[in-house]
Amino acid sequence: MGLFDGKKGLVVGVANDHSIAWAIAEYVMAEGALCGFTHLPDRPDDKRQRNRRRVALLTDKAENARFLVPLDVSDDDQIAEVVKTTQQEFGTIDFLVHSVAFAPLEDLKVDTIQTSRAGFKLAMEISAYSLIALANAFQPVLNDGGSIVAMTYFGGEKAVPGYNVMGICKAALDSTVKYLAYDLGPRQIRVNAVSAGPLRTLAGRGAGVDDMLTLYEKMAPMGRNITHEEVGRAAGFLLSDMASGITGEILHVDAGYNIMGSPGRLVEQYRQ
Ligand SMILES: NC(=O)c1ccc[n+]([C@@H]2O[C@H](COP(=O)([O-])OP(=O)(O)OC[C@H]3O[C@@H](n4cnc5c(N)ncnc54)[C@H](O)[C@@H]3O)[C@@H](O)[C@H]2O)c1
Repeated sequence: MGLFDGKKGLVVGVANDHSIAWAIAEYVMAEGALCGFTHLPDRPDDKRQRNRRRVALLTDKAENARFLVPLDVSDDDQIAEVVKTTQQEFGTIDFLVHSVAFAPLEDLKVDTIQTSRAGFKLAMEISAYSLIALANAFQPVLNDGGSIVAMTYFGGEKAVPGYNVMGICKAALDSTVKYLAYDLGPRQIRVNAVSAGPLRTLAGRGAGVDDMLTLYEKMAPMGRNITHEEVGRAAGFLLSDMASGITGEILHVDAGYNIMGSPGRLVEQYRQ
């Protein structure tokens, strides 16, 4: 008996096998869930369909993966198409995973004060508004008692130099989680986020994860970094009926880093 036997869901945000969305999908599929997947659309001139291929390499081998369709979350028509496919394939679904973020590199590389207007709008649209767009479009398809999980980061709660405009997006996303939790609450649909510590992924590289990994190892109470599997399991918990009384929550999976009010054991380094 698996925790997700009889459950179906859509996973948005797999780019490759390092993606957090894939860690979540692997966990819920191992527990019995059937999953549909989306990939970032390929440019028409990319004959090799690299985005699709990278995700298909994973989903083709996964027994419980049922479909793979393109989706740019900034395009409402594409969202409507994915809703249609999901309805055709699954009828209704029990969960939705939102594991998507983007900001132009030139805006991530500069100080927050220099963020461009266009970069800010784009980053907000893809990284925060998309949760509203998806939750709204999927209202008719999500079963009562369903669950939505988004991925966030501590840089939305406190200033984390280097995370910059993405921190502002995460603050908006965290708030969106709470407002959507309120809107969907009467249907017992829960909306939560996992706030993960740094993990090496495509998006992570753009957001300066390498420095963070060293810092977390030194500062987090547990004295280590977290793993993809730990995030997959925590998100799986929030998506499952085990979390039936939890909504609007930001669950930190960060070896405790966020509770620190001082650099902790890192200070010892400066005492010598
Ligand atoms: N890696 C980390 O350290 C870390 C920590 C905390 C939170 N997160 C969050 O986890 C989520 C997943 O990121 P990841 O680290 O797995 O990296 P990733 O690069 O594997 O995933 C990001 C995904 O966003 C998708 N995406 C970007 N623009 C899109 C668009 N317009 N339409 C549809 N999809 C789009 C990409 O295709 C990719 O699949 C993000 O929200 C990220 O901010 C990551």
